[in-house]
Amino acid sequence: MGLRLLRRILLPFAALVVAASLATIVMGRTHAASPSGAASPGVFLTAASSPSMKARLHTGYELFQTHCSFCHGELANGSTGIAPNLQGLGPGVVQLWLRTGWMPLKTPSAQPDNKPPSFNDTRIKDIALWVASLKKGGVGFAPKLHLHSASLSQGFSLFTLNCAPCHTITGAGDALADGYHAPPLHGVNRYEIYEAVRSGPQNMPQFGPKNITPAQLRDIIRYVITDIKHPVSPGGISLGGVGPVAEGFVGLFIGVGGCMLAAYWVGDRTERESEEDPGTGEGPESSREASHA
Ligand code: HEC
Ligand code: HEC
Repeated sequence: MGLRLLRRILLPFAALVVAASLATIVMGRTHAASPSGAASPGVFLTAASSPSMKARLHTGYELFQTHCSFCHGELANGSTGIAPNLQGLGPGVVQLWLRTGWMPLKTPSAQPDNKPPSFNDTRIKDIALWVASLKKGGVGFAPKLHLHSASLSQGFSLFTLNCAPCHTITGAGDALADGYHAPPLHGVNRYEIYEAVRSGPQNMPQFGPKNITPAQLRDIIRYVITDIKHPVSPGGISLGGVGPVAEGFVGLFIGVGGCMLAAYWVGDRTERESEEDPGTGEGPESSREASHA
């Protein structure tokens, strides 16, 4: 390998390293220089204790400024008037809205659609941490949820009572009034369920620990992520859990179709058998008797 080639590979790399270290220095300066005035977002960065937390908050801050601030305001306080104040909602709410893909919003609509998240889980946490660092309170991140002792039967009845009216008993989701809809619950994970139940996004009711205790919430979560997501179908194939009406309809088609096929087959056989039995002029019944004799 020639020197020239080596230089061609090494030079851009070296330039990158230099640029990166310059950027770090500059950014470090602005950090240090940021005064402890109330209006500066930097104040929240310096308030954090560990360097790794500072780095995470900084990433969150930058992502927020790039992707969210033009609607929610630089300090996430809704100062623009386009989008609501996020201060004090808690990191769990921000995480939920980002994991579901509801945010960032692209086209303003009555209800943000579910879509693949724009950021990975770490980035989402960074943004949520930064927003939460602005004001205490609200719904926290979902805790580690151990579900092995949760009751499926309890979960089922709690779900039927509290959730099925909107999400339907099969969890397929349904249209609500005013163009809103309750989304299907088949792909959701335990943390989304926790954060949705505790925060009540849009026109879903908010269930506090007094309405649904932590143990009851674990029962519901276990039910939703096991039985609803993987429906056990004692009555045969589930057909995607589209409900008894459609299943009855399909049953009718297959049932009636099957009967017709069977009828054709029997008719066909009868005809052929009588053809194979010339002479007697009698039905297949007598010809079988004759062969026994
Ligand atoms: C195009 C404008 C727009 C952008 C960009 C945007 N949002 Fe929103 N956001 C909205 C609007 C409007 C609502 C209210 C939606 C509703 O309730 O139907 C909202 C609601 C929210 C909520 C729920 C607030 C509540 O009261 O429960 C959160 C959390 C949120 N946004 C976070 C973010 C984050 C984080 C980003 C950046 C990654 C972001 N948004 C980007 C417009 C925007
Ligand atoms: C009054 C109707 C209503 C009830 C009752 C209700 N929800 Fe919801 N739920 C909604 C709506 C509407 C949304 C979507 C909110 C949005 O798009 O911002 C939602 C969203 C959710 C989500 C997020 C879905 C996703 O796509 O990630 C979960 C999880 C959820 N609900 C679980 C529950 C559970 C569990 C219960 C019962 C404890 C429940 N809901 C009760 C209406 C309801």
